[in-house]
Amino acid sequence: MCGIIGCVLKAGSVAPILHKGLKRLEYRGYDSAGIATVYNGAIYLKKDSGKINEIHARLNLDNLPGSIGIAHTRWATHGAPSQVNAHPHLDCDERIAIVHNGVIENFLELKEELMDRRHTFRSKTDTEVIAHLIEENLKSGKNLLEATIAAVRRLKGSYALAVISSLEPDKIVFARNESPLIIGFSDSANFVASDVAAFIEHTRKAVFLDNGEAGYMTPSEFRIFRIDSGVEVEKRVIELTWTVEEAEKSGYPHFTLKEIYEQPHTISEALKAQEKYLDLLTEFLDRGREVFLLAAGTSHNACVAASYMFSKIARLNTIPVIASEFIENYGRSIGIDSIILAVSQSGETADVLTAVENARMTAATILAVTNVVGSTLTRVSRAYVLQNSGPEIGVAATKTFTAQLTVLAQLALRLARRRGKLAQYEIDELREELRKLPELVEKTLMISDKPMRELAKGLANARSIFFLGRGISYATALEARLKVMELSYIPCIAYPAGESKHGPISVIENGYPVFFIAPYDPTRKHVLGNIMEMKARGAKIYCVGTEGDNELRENSDWWLGLPKVHEILSPIIYVIPFQFLAYYLALERGFDPDKPRNLAKSVTVL
Ligand code: M6R
Repeated sequence: MCGIIGCVLKAGSVAPILHKGLKRLEYRGYDSAGIATVYNGAIYLKKDSGKINEIHARLNLDNLPGSIGIAHTRWATHGAPSQVNAHPHLDCDERIAIVHNGVIENFLELKEELMDRRHTFRSKTDTEVIAHLIEENLKSGKNLLEATIAAVRRLKGSYALAVISSLEPDKIVFARNESPLIIGFSDSANFVASDVAAFIEHTRKAVFLDNGEAGYMTPSEFRIFRIDSGVEVEKRVIELTWTVEEAEKSGYPHFTLKEIYEQPHTISEALKAQEKYLDLLTEFLDRGREVFLLAAGTSHNACVAASYMFSKIARLNTIPVIASEFIENYGRSIGIDSIILAVSQSGETADVLTAVENARMTAATILAVTNVVGSTLTRVSRAYVLQNSGPEIGVAATKTFTAQLTVLAQLALRLARRRGKLAQYEIDELREELRKLPELVEKTLMISDKPMRELAKGLANARSIFFLGRGISYATALEARLKVMELSYIPCIAYPAGESKHGPISVIENGYPVFFIAPYDPTRKHVLGNIMEMKARGAKIYCVGTEGDNELRENSDWWLGLPKVHEILSPIIYVIPFQFLAYYLALERGFDPDKPRNLAKSVTVL
């Protein structure tokens, strides 16, 4: 996730407006940034790696000439955060500048093709291919809008982009597919941006672009066309009522809720994880004598789920280990044929990095799944896959958990195929289930929000809450517990449902809230017995199961039915109600869900 903004002014200097707009978009990414303007027949460009304030201190982002320009704040997906990889990107002749948010899936083949035609690439980004495609189209006699439309017709993937050119210095051309793009307009200026937060100080009149639309704006007009047919479209004007602060959160009261609702999008981005790196990781995972899944907190819970995925479909036994325990438990026994798959959203968690360093010293192979290109973890691993979630501002991991699971499920599927452990029809079925995930998540968000909000009212004074699940749902129970505990500060317990009778059941007394996570999978047949054990001791049973499972429904005091999903993907769906529960419990109890006490987003101490 990156942030883009473009602005055409009737008069005055555009750079300070773009700079301020970038600050408003910083929540979308902050590893590098840049601005390009067009003035007097030339493109002016300033960009660098680092946070916007740091770049401004070095380069003075307010000081570029001209009244038309584009800007970008980056969250790297292709190419590490660096000056050359920062946007805007230029064509060979430096007559075009482009900013882009999204992922171009076919950029490697386009790049090869363009290099064969002697285009010179400066960066490692997917975006730069678009600048060169537009350059070629302009040379063939097209105007900037036609050249951009012809270029984006060749792209596979997601994009929201804005383009300026010294050949048509009075306009910005823009296009959208899957990544958000909004136009703001007023008598003195027109804007195009990833988010209304970027321009809401200047105008409250907005038009939201739909997928497959492109257009241009000058200081006096803007027009929008369908990319496929070229037909002009009429759009509805929206009068924005949000405050600047609300706009940054897309109208949600908190980043945590916004991020919970972003999951259909972040999962579809995680499904675009780069094939060649998935293959590389799969190859290494298949080679090792032993595979450790190393992580902390929520990422550890994702690893617990992954260990079930790997063993169930790829017949690979893996060991999920809490990072801070790794050295003491396994430090002396690992070696050259050990594989360490480190999972860390930030890629900077000290416990993970210390364990990884220890493993590196023994010549073990380090692999990673992370959200941050250029993080320490990406630099110390042999190969890594990005989860493409964009920045997560809420301290509690929500969208990054489900994105990690999506990447890990893709790895498990590839490994299963490589090892010949699934029949073709099973592979096809699981692929199809993965493809449908964003839709399923969307449905689950709709089903769960209201009931969990209501439930939070009743549970706000609970002294403790129990979470139980069997099989892969044990991982969901762990994450449900962590979410609820870290946001509501209610002490919680999570156990494998079958294990609870071996001790923890002694805490149960009349009315004690016990959640069962019980999708209709092979473990389901034993869940009923566990419910009965708890009921017999007076527990109040809250059950999240599969729609239509009447037997569980009838034996529960409270019930939420979720759509049917493939067993190994169930944590992605079943965690969602608990993200809501944690969020609403925090509100009911008067706590800030975005900033839980005593916690930091990235824990860089041991
Ligand atoms: O950046 P990482 O994934 O390595 O972070 C790991 C944990 O610190 C993190 O998941 C933490 O537990 C969060 N508070 C979970 O919501």
